[in-house]
Amino acid sequence: MTNVKTVPTTPIHGQRPGTSGLRKKTAEFMRPPYLNNFTQAIFNAVGGLTGKTLVLGGDGRFFNDKAAQIILKMAAANRLAKLIVGQNSLLSTPAASNLIRQRKADGGIILSASHNPGGPDEDFGMKYNMSNGGPATENVTECIFQETTSINAFQIFDMPDVDLSKVGKQQVGEMEVEVIDSVVDYQALMKTLFDFEAIRDLLADGFTITIDAMHAVTGPYAKAILEIDLGAPKGSVLNAVPLPDFGGGHPDPNPVWAKDLMTIMFAGDAPDFGAAMDGDGDRNMILGRGTYVTPSDSLAVLAANAHLAPGYKRGLAGVARSMPTSRAADRVAEKLGIDAFETPTGWKFFGNLLDAGKATLCGEESAGTGSDHVREKDGLWAILLWLNILAVRKKSVAQIMAGHWAEFGRNYYSRHDYEGVDEIRAKEMILTLSRRLRDLPGTEIEGLIIEDADNFSYSDPVDQSVSPNQGIRILFEDGSRIVLRLSGTGTVGATLRVYLERYENNAELLNQDPQLALAPVIRAAEQIAHIQNYTGRTAPDVKT
Ligand code: G1P
Ligand code: ZN
Repeated sequence: MTNVKTVPTTPIHGQRPGTSGLRKKTAEFMRPPYLNNFTQAIFNAVGGLTGKTLVLGGDGRFFNDKAAQIILKMAAANRLAKLIVGQNSLLSTPAASNLIRQRKADGGIILSASHNPGGPDEDFGMKYNMSNGGPATENVTECIFQETTSINAFQIFDMPDVDLSKVGKQQVGEMEVEVIDSVVDYQALMKTLFDFEAIRDLLADGFTITIDAMHAVTGPYAKAILEIDLGAPKGSVLNAVPLPDFGGGHPDPNPVWAKDLMTIMFAGDAPDFGAAMDGDGDRNMILGRGTYVTPSDSLAVLAANAHLAPGYKRGLAGVARSMPTSRAADRVAEKLGIDAFETPTGWKFFGNLLDAGKATLCGEESAGTGSDHVREKDGLWAILLWLNILAVRKKSVAQIMAGHWAEFGRNYYSRHDYEGVDEIRAKEMILTLSRRLRDLPGTEIEGLIIEDADNFSYSDPVDQSVSPNQGIRILFEDGSRIVLRLSGTGTVGATLRVYLERYENNAELLNQDPQLALAPVIRAAEQIAHIQNYTGRTAPDVKT
């Protein structure tokens, strides 16, 4: 191949992927050879590309299109046999995961920094998914990082950009590039899982929905499935055109960043159902008229009702949740007589459980829910499962929540984030606390007695790999819990996450404001960890 260029390079410090791939400021990614080095490191870490098939797409953020061209040219130079690319290099994360699986690809590259803002001054990201469609495991991630520390050259085709705007096949040297409609395969998968007929009837009966795509990648998916296929009125999907800067917003589906949708759902004339999805379409927020469903509760409700959807009618093998996620789902699992798994933060830890058929539903408190249909969390899937359940049960979201709490009790839950705090001080706080953990049991704080305290270590039941230091857990005798950990997805300073939980099963006390219900736990967290002292903040930046 005459037009392959081998370009000498030197390692770039700090290309260590975090909770979900490598995320950095866009400007850093755009400065050559930043993207080239990381891309070649992936190719090297997976043992080269000769004869392989990869999937490529991203959430449409600024630099998505240009990065896709660079990766395409490098893949061709590295002798990839086939590259499947979403039209205009767009693919939601769950759609990419599905394509990898459907097409039996060897892996895929997803260009996204998820819910982080996009634009020249904001964030960019890139992650590698494996042949099961899921995020690279810890081992592979470590191999990629090791490659970035010793890289000395990368290969790239010297050629003009390829037109990725038209569906169809074309040759780039020895490599076949197949541009596919980003929505079609995903939509087909959803039809195998849900009763589209029942949802269509529900919407035809005047059940109203408002879905916020937050100017991100799910707009075309939500329009095709909810408006065109299922017949929701035009305009039911808001902010449906993906924009490189997500309209200047944070495409993060929570009450803070999806404020406009919150306002709509809490107004007098609110629709029956509301939901939002994040930048790359894997996160979701579920709302009813005047009702906010926490992601932890959503997982529990979905677990309790999934059998109402055709794809899950045979029941669930098990339910998995990330450690900081509330234990509401565990109560459902117990009642159903199925296994409940507790994994570290990050979807990659669910992969083995799903592959082994040990878990069917998975979820994280950070607005992520999904199942074994793909190996990523899936925002639109969660919306469709909710709609399927609502269509069968013919109750409002508020009624479903009230019924769930009456049956299982309520795990009051909130996460407090301290963003962009001093990294050294934050690490010092976690370290100091880790050293004191052994002395904590038996201590009484705010009327709560500490039963146990540890730094969570996960032993994967499938491959027996051990992931230590996954967050500090302080467990109280009454079932309350405080978890503290540092974020692995931020790009500036450190973000401290404090997760607070309290269980209540007194029928009179199931309708409190979560922050009030959690007040003693919140005060206890401050007294145990001295958060104000270490962060220099008097209050969290975000409460979800
Ligand atoms: C955050 C969430 C985590 C999620 C990840 C990727 O990671 O907490 O649940 O898997 O984003 O969406 P963190 O910043 O806490 O490391
Ligand atoms: Zn995401």
